[in-house]
Amino acid sequence: MEEFIDQKTIPQRTLSNGEKIPCIGMGTFGSDHVAPGLVADAVTGAIRCGYRLFDCASVYGNEDLIGEVFAGAFKEGVVKRDDLFIISKVWNDMHGRGDVLLSCAKTLKDLRLQNVDAYFVHWPFPNYHAPGCDGDSRNPDSRPFSADAFMETWRQMERLAEMGLTRHIGMSNMTIPKLEAVLPLCRIQPSLIEMELHPSFQQEELFRYCVSKNIQPIGFSPIGSPNRPDRDKTDADVVDTEIPEIVRIAAAHGVHPAAVCLKWAVQRGQIPIPFSVHENNYRNNLRCTTEDPLSEEEMQVLSGVDQNCRLIKGQVFLWPGAKSWEDLWDLDGTITK
Ligand SMILES: NC(=O)c1ccc[n+]([C@@H]2O[C@H](COP(=O)([O-])OP(=O)(O)OC[C@H]3O[C@@H](n4cnc5c(N)ncnc54)[C@H](OP(=O)(O)O)[C@@H]3O)[C@@H](O)[C@H]2O)c1
Repeated sequence: MEEFIDQKTIPQRTLSNGEKIPCIGMGTFGSDHVAPGLVADAVTGAIRCGYRLFDCASVYGNEDLIGEVFAGAFKEGVVKRDDLFIISKVWNDMHGRGDVLLSCAKTLKDLRLQNVDAYFVHWPFPNYHAPGCDGDSRNPDSRPFSADAFMETWRQMERLAEMGLTRHIGMSNMTIPKLEAVLPLCRIQPSLIEMELHPSFQQEELFRYCVSKNIQPIGFSPIGSPNRPDRDKTDADVVDTEIPEIVRIAAAHGVHPAAVCLKWAVQRGQIPIPFSVHENNYRNNLRCTTEDPLSEEEMQVLSGVDQNCRLIKGQVFLWPGAKSWEDLWDLDGTITK
């Protein structure tokens, strides 16, 4: 029997329009190895234990089953639609004029909703890769980031917002140079931005930049994505849950190192969206944000464990002629062409 975590105990964040949303949500990406039905079952359990924010995407291949779960929960009165904050995202092969609307319509049909709460551009370029492809594969049609191409997609995002099909629009996997190029052109600013954030990859500059623009950061892979696809693993990658400072703080609080990653995330100010299909884990992930916070000193220690270790490198989105995954992330402060 799931333990219900009282909503009043879950901290909240405030978006630029004053709206309150939960400080933590649940991810729904099965990472090529968790079957869609298992993810949907976890969403069922997560709603019952108190999650109210869900991070979905068309490319996760499970929105139809998650939609059944939402519809069932509304019908049974477990939760009301207005109580949930549901995110979805347009995938790379549906950018540009027309396709964004089609993609959102398909998501709404699958999720069985009239609107989503936030709709994101999942990656800032239309570079598609086949599901399950290996890390070295290159799509000959892939291109470097172009502000013009991005804005063509963003105009469609703005239309979705104006049509009431989404209440907020957001971006994901951006860099400061890309944001500098596009934010001045946006008629409707993003309310939220998804970025990889965990103790060994804190992206302090990008995080602060977003906060300074009144954009709420959402942190994906908050536990360091231990079960990410093999194509996203290298020998140099840090395992967050094995960082000695995190292990020591976890022992002092009597929790799993995953809980330290999440407490740190919430206390720093991003919204982590951990994924788990195991009830014990997803319940603990939510509950740990409601009790026994980290001390200021522990937060200070954790700010020192950053190793600039990006795990989701995105190399499958590279274009022909690109040198390495670093080209996606504008490391020298200019947009890589
Ligand atoms: N915008 C983007 O481009 C983007 C990219 C990547 C991810 N995301 C989103 O972010 C979500 C989370 O990222 P992620 O799945 O990569 O990484 P993550 O949440 O850091 O790690 C998930 C893994 O951690 C394990 N785990 C979860 N809670 C645990 C606990 N309390 N104790 C021990 N192990 C635990 C889970 O295994 P068990 O299932 O065995 O518990 C799961 O395999 C995704 O599901 C997706 O919604 C977005």
